[in-house]
Amino acid sequence: VPAPALYRLVYASQISPTCKDDLRGAMAEILTHAIAANRPRDVTGLMVAHRGWFVQALEGPPEAVKLLFETISADARHHHALPVVECAVDERAFGQWAMGARLLSQGDEAVLSSLDPKQPFEPMRAPHRTLTRLLANVAEVHWRTLSDQQALAA
Ligand SMILES: Cc1cc2nc3c(=O)[nH]c(=O)nc-3n(C[C@H](O)[C@H](O)[C@H](O)COP(=O)(O)O)c2cc1C
Repeated sequence: VPAPALYRLVYASQISPTCKDDLRGAMAEILTHAIAANRPRDVTGLMVAHRGWFVQALEGPPEAVKLLFETISADARHHHALPVVECAVDERAFGQWAMGARLLSQGDEAVLSSLDPKQPFEPMRAPHRTLTRLLANVAEVHWRTLSDQQALAA
């Protein structure tokens, strides 16, 4: 029996100014909604906020992922959401969490080690591997916190 098709979409978007006023609060709201809404759709993923950008990975059944991206794209809390990775995958890279979220800060050195601190963060120009690496670092370093978020939202 062939495994059901899996799809990964990673996009970057610019956080809107009003959302930046209370980014922590906005991310908490998004996360609570996302965990509840993604679970029944078999969607998993991870999102980070860094220097005015959201980068989010969505994984799951292709139709569910594409539909969700359409919905998310229309959200006024960010704009110019553009996919940087869109592909069928054999397995999930961010399968532990219906959604995880992390607001990156200076203290996230281990996570940011894949980025050049002297360069501005320009996810639309970064090689897609750089963004996947960034998210993978977050998954690795903050595994415990991200898992606690799921438990709290359950
Ligand atoms: C950066 C960002 C990421 C989001 N991620 C998700 C997500 O993974 N799942 C989800 O259901 N909604 C997510 N949302 C929220 C949706 O854009 C939208 O508010 C929500 O799906 C609306 O749901 P409703 O139509 O059921 O009210 C996200 C929003 C933003 C700004």
